[in-house]
Parts: sequence; C-alpha cells; structure tokens
Amino acid sequence: MSHCTVSKIHHVGVVVESLRRAYGFWRDTLGLPLLREAEIPDQGVRAALLAAGESEVELLEPLTADGGVARFLARRGEGLHHICFETADVDAALGGLRAQSVPLLDERSRAGLAGRIAFLSPKACHGVLVELATPPQGTEARDSPVRLKRLVVGCREPAAAAGSYQRLFGLPEVAINGGARCMLGWAGGGTLLMVPASEVGNVEGMVALSMVAPEMAGLLGRLRRAGAAMLVGAAEVTIEPRSSHGVHLHISRYHFP
Ligand code: CO
Repeated sequence: MSHCTVSKIHHVGVVVESLRRAYGFWRDTLGLPLLREAEIPDQGVRAALLAAGESEVELLEPLTADGGVARFLARRGEGLHHICFETADVDAALGGLRAQSVPLLDERSRAGLAGRIAFLSPKACHGVLVELATPPQGTEARDSPVRLKRLVVGCREPAAAAGSYQRLFGLPEVAINGGARCMLGWAGGGTLLMVPASEVGNVEGMVALSMVAPEMAGLLGRLRRAGAAMLVGAAEVTIEPRSSHGVHLHISRYHFP
C-alpha cells in the first residue's frame, strides 16, 4: 500500500521565456485568473500560479542562466516541465517515499509558490518530474473559464508506469476502454492518461494537456484575436504549441455540473 496519498493534481508547471509574454496567452487569451506571482530564488525562477478549475497552471521564467529551469529552456524550449500533486502533509509523504528508497531531489520540504513543496527525482516516475505540495490552509479553488482536465504522458509501458504511480501516490485508476492506455486520477481533480510512447512520436514524459470550457464562442473569439495557430472542431479546439508556449493544448466544451 502507498505511504503517500495525494488528493488531486495541484498544478502543471510550464517553463516560459518570459512571464509577461506568457500572460498574454494563459491569462489574457485563455482567461485563467492570476492567483500569485513571486520570485523563488532557490529554484532560480520567477513563478506564477493561475487558476484552472480545481487545479492550477504554474508558469516558470528562469532568472539565472545556470538553474534547472534555465537548462530545460535552453535544451527543450518552452513547454510542460513538471506535474504537482497535492498532499495533506508533504514531509510525511517524503518520509514514506524515502522508506521505499524512492529517489528524491528534496530530502525535506521547502517553501514554494504552492505552499510547502518538494520534488522527486524524474527517475522515480518514468521520466516525469513530480512535485508534491501542501498548500496553506484555507486556499480555495478559484473559478476560471477554462479548467484543467488531463495530462497525457508518453510511456514505454503504460501499464507498468500506471502501476508505479499507483504504488507511489495511491492514485486511483479511472476505467477506460483504451487498449494499451491507462488513466489515473480523479473526475474533478485532473487525470493522467498514460499512452504508449510509440503513439506520441516516441516521447517519454508529458506530451499534451487537455482542458475543458463551458463556453467556446468567447474563447475562440479571444484565440482568433490573438492570432493563435489552431485547429477548430465542432466543440473543441487544438492549439499549436507555437501559440501556447510549447504546450500541445486541447480544449473541449464541457458542461460543468
Ligand atoms: Co510547481
């Protein structure tokens, strides 16, 4: 049984060249409300959290040339960087993971934008950088016109990857009829869809983000005015990474309960 139980996707971290420019898309075009922005010197970044339904999107702009985020930007360009799960007690979670000899980047929690946070080694989670966070008491989800729904992860063996996420974090499995695919997570708190790397250009790690919106017309109008490169379907839009800071982004219409 897992020693570390997480309750939802707290946020998805996206590395950007410039927060100011990234706000043009994520805040002004998508409409995600900015919750807070701060410099995090020990991560070498200026970071911002924007509300996306029950979860958030974190934007990270490197401040120094030698930090991990700066190296990521130089090597891979803008795009998905890490996923953060919420847990009630990050230090207890770290203790449980350490007892299972899970490789960690942080041996104890530290202050981050999302509260008390810690990072696991990407080796722990099939190449995905995972952060755990315990937000301050009394933080509430903020309403937003677009909500985070699902993160797509390319895996050499989806079933094996899903098994280790279940073991490490107690992530519940969501039943799907997806053949070689596996889905984990929560109806309201975000899901992870593990797909064979061969289906996503042999990429192992985070490959795409799905969001939902109750109302598409206003969103499509804002995307058009911003000149976003996109493919518009009947009740969905796929935005090309060059218009969404390196993120393969799919947004579909969804009636919130
Ligand atoms: Co983060």
